[in-house]
Amino acid sequence: MMVPITIEDRSGQRQLIEVPDDMSLSLMEALKAYEYNILATCGGMALCATCHVQVLEGMEKLPPLNDVELDMLDTLPDVTANSRLACQLRIDKDLENAVFRICGQEI
Ligand code: FES
Repeated sequence: MMVPITIEDRSGQRQLIEVPDDMSLSLMEALKAYEYNILATCGGMALCATCHVQVLEGMEKLPPLNDVELDMLDTLPDVTANSRLACQLRIDKDLENAVFRICGQEI
């Protein structure tokens, strides 16, 4: 199925994107596919934190943070209680109708 997700870019512009849930994409890969400006230097290894997003809606449905993700987010000056690494979130129905704001460093 296609999972509808709303993305807010750094200028506050929102767009609804639809991502297939059968390709085991991460949210980071989906954002890149939609040509969002995301560095993702480490390629999804939870090592660079440039795929930092804030969850504006839908936090309660997301899987909990793993230790690696938590440690990496802790290194960010702008981390908040609803921060996640987009590369650590798999696209599935848990992300349905969630709203994410892109925060990571720009290219
Ligand atoms: S892509 Fe590097 S931490 Fe997510």
